[in-house]
Amino acid sequence: MPGIKLAPSLLNADFSDLRGAVSCIEGLADAVHLDVMDGNFVPNITFGPLVVRAVREITTLPLDVHLMIAHPAEFVEDFVEAGADWISFHAEVTRYPGEILGMIHGFGKRAGLVINPQTPSDRVFEYLELCDYVLVMTVMPGFGGQEMIVEALEKVGEIKREADRLGLKVEVEVDGGVKTRNLPLVKEAGADIVVVGSSIYGAPDPRRAAEEIRGLLDD
Ligand code: DX5
Ligand code: ZN
Repeated sequence: MPGIKLAPSLLNADFSDLRGAVSCIEGLADAVHLDVMDGNFVPNITFGPLVVRAVREITTLPLDVHLMIAHPAEFVEDFVEAGADWISFHAEVTRYPGEILGMIHGFGKRAGLVINPQTPSDRVFEYLELCDYVLVMTVMPGFGGQEMIVEALEKVGEIKREADRLGLKVEVEVDGGVKTRNLPLVKEAGADIVVVGSSIYGAPDPRRAAEEIRGLLDD
C-alpha cells in the first residue's frame, strides 16, 4: 500500500470477536496496533503476549506492539515469541532506551521509541540511529477514544528534521485521537504511520470507517 501506513488499534475492538475485528481491516491496514498496558506505567490493564499470539494466528499483517509497561526489557522476548513484528516502548520508563532498542533488534524485529505528549522530541534524538520508528503520542496513554492533543503533532516534524540532519531513515508514527476531521493535520505534520482506534472500532460499521480513513490517507 502506497504512502502513509495505517495501523488500526484493537483497543476499542470487540474482544469477544477478535477474528471479526481483524478481518474488517484486512486489505486496508498495513499493520495491527496492539496496546499492551500493565496498570503500572498507565492506569489501565489490557492484555499481554497471550492476546498477541491469538492475533498472530488470525492475520499475516505485521503486529505493531505498543508496550505501555514499566519494565519493557523483561518482556521483549515474550512478545517476540508471541509474534510481534514491531515493538515500541516508552522513553519515560528508562534512562537507557538504547539497550532495549538493541535487544529488540537482536531478535530481528523493528524497534520503536515512544514519547508522551509532554515529553519533548529531543528526548529521542540521541537514539534515532537505533530506532526504526518513533511513536509520538497525541493523547495521554491508557485509553482509546480521547481527543487529540494537536500541539504534540509539532514533534513529528522536529523528529523527521533531526533524522534527516543525521542522514537517518526513521519513520514517525502518530497515536491517539486520530479522526477523519483531524487527519489532514496529521498528514500535514508528516506522519509515516497512523494509529486509529475508536474511529474505526467505535464506528457502527468498522470496515466502512477503515475504508474511509484508508481513502483519506491515500488521497
Ligand atoms: C492509547 C493507545 C492508542 C489508542 C488509540 O494509550 O496507545 O493506541 O488505543 O485509540 P484512539 O484512536 O481511539 O485514540
Ligand atoms: Zn498505542
